Amino acid sequence: MVKVAILGASGGVGQPLSLLLKLSPYVSELALYDIRAAEGIGKDLSHINTNSSCVGYDKDSIENTLSNAQVVLIPAGVPRKPGLTRDDLFKMNAGIVKSLVTAVGKFAPNARILVISNPVNSLVPIAVETLKKMGKFKPGNVMGVTNLDLVRAETFLVDYLMLKNPKIGQEQDKTTMHRKVTVIGGHSGETIIPIITDKSLVFQLDKQYEHFIHRVQFGGDEIVKAKQGAGSATLSMAFAGAKFAEEVLRSFHNEKPETESLSAFVYLPGLKNGKKAQQLVGDNSIEYFSLPIVLRNGSVVSIDTSVLEKLSPREEQLVNTAVKELRKNIEKGKSFILDSS
Ligand code: NAI
Repeated sequence: MVKVAILGASGGVGQPLSLLLKLSPYVSELALYDIRAAEGIGKDLSHINTNSSCVGYDKDSIENTLSNAQVVLIPAGVPRKPGLTRDDLFKMNAGIVKSLVTAVGKFAPNARILVISNPVNSLVPIAVETLKKMGKFKPGNVMGVTNLDLVRAETFLVDYLMLKNPKIGQEQDKTTMHRKVTVIGGHSGETIIPIITDKSLVFQLDKQYEHFIHRVQFGGDEIVKAKQGAGSATLSMAFAGAKFAEEVLRSFHNEKPETESLSAFVYLPGLKNGKKAQQLVGDNSIEYFSLPIVLRNGSVVSIDTSVLEKLSPREEQLVNTAVKELRKNIEKGKSFILDSS
């Protein structure tokens, strides 16, 4: 049985994520933590008659929250507002993630850490460097959650294909189409690289292909704009985060993944196929990249590089652009920890 902790559980992402995980058969104990209101949210969810117990902790109880936790999700921090990019959030969220990951290193050093807070491209390096400094880092245990990009890519691929062929709107066709796309790279703007694995669909999309790429890369902006200052994706993020967490939890039971192309933003050195991935993206020094992962016992044991071996010239272009931006994002995160005493 697995104890799951959510840090930042009272937020727009945190609350629906907590609800979805309260419904998961893979969770035995759900521990909710926030600097505000988590006790009440925990009490509320504890009345739901699923198998798990649920407790919300006050801001001084991080140790109790994390004690014996095997999976820790971090959606704590400020979301995007109009005019703010994910990178603008860096200054606000870097310190929050550093302090929360320090607590995980101290009170739950073997926990798998799922970083949802943005900017993922910089905050995952912060989590990794923090744990390295503490001597508690295990490469397969830190995952940046990029699954919303895949969820969006699956939705948008069907949307665009339906413009050409409305029949694709039928449920069975939709599910089949979902399996034909994956997303790699990073988790902001041009670092997000949707890859349509069935190239005949690229041909079918025709002129809509470029629209599709752009919409996956900048889909988050649609929500920020429509919410008119009230924040960014919360419900779709909670869905994507819960789906991702469930795959991690299923792997504790050796169950086959439901999503074949599940990706995460991971630290490549030290992971099986990590070096190969670096070579294939054309930069041996790039330490982080989102790629399809293989999970065992809750941890990433290897990376599936097959998608990088069959890139089209347009996709290679997207990878090159992404790598340039990613290098800067990663460096920013690393320096935040390495330059501090
Ligand atoms: P929100 O402002 O509604 O919630 C954030 C929560 O974090 C608040 O309840 C706040 O009290 C809490 N918090 C702040 N400092 C904390 C600390 N030191 N310890 C514990 N809790 C703390 O924001 P929202 O909309 O829930 O977004 C949360 C984060 O998730 C943002 O950084 C956002 O950019 C990110 N996000 C990531 C996505 C992804 O695809 N990875 C998609 C959507 C959002």
